[in-house]
Amino acid sequence: MLRKIMVTGAGSRIGRPLTTLLRRLEGVEVVALGQEDLDILDEAAVRKALEREKPSTVINCAGFNDVVAAEHAASEKLPVNTRGICNLARAAAELKFYLCFFSSKQVFNGKKAEPYDEEDEMWPVNQYGVAKQGGEEMVANLVEKNYLIVRSDYLFGFPGDWIGELKERLGRGEEVEVADDFLIAPTYVGDLAAAMVMLVSEWAAGVYHYTNEAGSGVSCCDFSRAVAERIGLDTGLIKGRPQAEIDYGYPINLPPRAILSLERFKKLFPSLVRPWQTALEEYLEIVSQ
Ligand SMILES: NC(=O)c1ccc[n+]([C@@H]2O[C@H](COP(=O)([O-])OP(=O)(O)OC[C@H]3O[C@@H](n4cnc5c(N)ncnc54)[C@H](OP(=O)(O)O)[C@@H]3O)[C@@H](O)[C@H]2O)c1
Repeated sequence: MLRKIMVTGAGSRIGRPLTTLLRRLEGVEVVALGQEDLDILDEAAVRKALEREKPSTVINCAGFNDVVAAEHAASEKLPVNTRGICNLARAAAELKFYLCFFSSKQVFNGKKAEPYDEEDEMWPVNQYGVAKQGGEEMVANLVEKNYLIVRSDYLFGFPGDWIGELKERLGRGEEVEVADDFLIAPTYVGDLAAAMVMLVSEWAAGVYHYTNEAGSGVSCCDFSRAVAERIGLDTGLIKGRPQAEIDYGYPINLPPRAILSLERFKKLFPSLVRPWQTALEEYLEIVSQ
């Protein structure tokens, strides 16, 4: 029997590669809806679309993910991450489809020395993290077991990402200040999309972490230097600074070293976890062609 998968927010950075991969699966019909087709904040429209399409699976890629902008305009920007998720969760509870969506490491405070497990207590330190926690809890409360939440970290591999900005700024000889005490697991968006597809194929339920492998984390500064080195730009222009001294245009609390444990994911798909350096090199190779 054909499995119908609806993707909401299909025009997003994650939504595009995800939709491409889903369309390659046999026995799957994909209904990809961008914001212009379906506004997940419009509860009546959400119900109508779901009653019309009757998907067995919905993967939500709609969201707001600018952590800094969310901090100073939370009430304006974040409802898509809370009320939007709530609309989908209510419909999932009633219409009994499998609801999948992306969350973030920003649900943690980043004070744990080891990587965070899926069951660790959420303790966000910014408005974005609070909204993500709210979205996760709503789904867990409203949808009985038939849901999947995939938390991830700092994404690269799409137009307008940090790599593109770095290339441009270093290319014109500009000095770039980057936090050297803020640890990340840089993650290629194509790998995250593939991880979601595999989890969805197995009807995996509950919370999973997925990032590229980064051990105990790499600083934003070292990641930026690694990018510069690989594309032959001057790494000397990259200046490491403490996170607290970086001007983001607005004061923001960020979890200093929230690295996600990949053990649960690895038990299912060990071969889908690869070092961020390998993923970065593959992406740089693709964009250089
Ligand atoms: N990017 C990251 O580093 C990162 C890391 C971890 C987790 N995540 C999570 O992954 C998810 C997707 O992130 P992304 O980076 O792919 O997002 P993105 O590229 O910023 O795209 C967000 C998408 O959501 C759509 N959208 C906004 N409001 C909507 C609404 N009310 N109804 C329907 N669609 C709406 C936008 O449509 P328009 O294009 O029309 O504006 C856009 O296509 C988010 O939940 C995010 O929090 C992202």
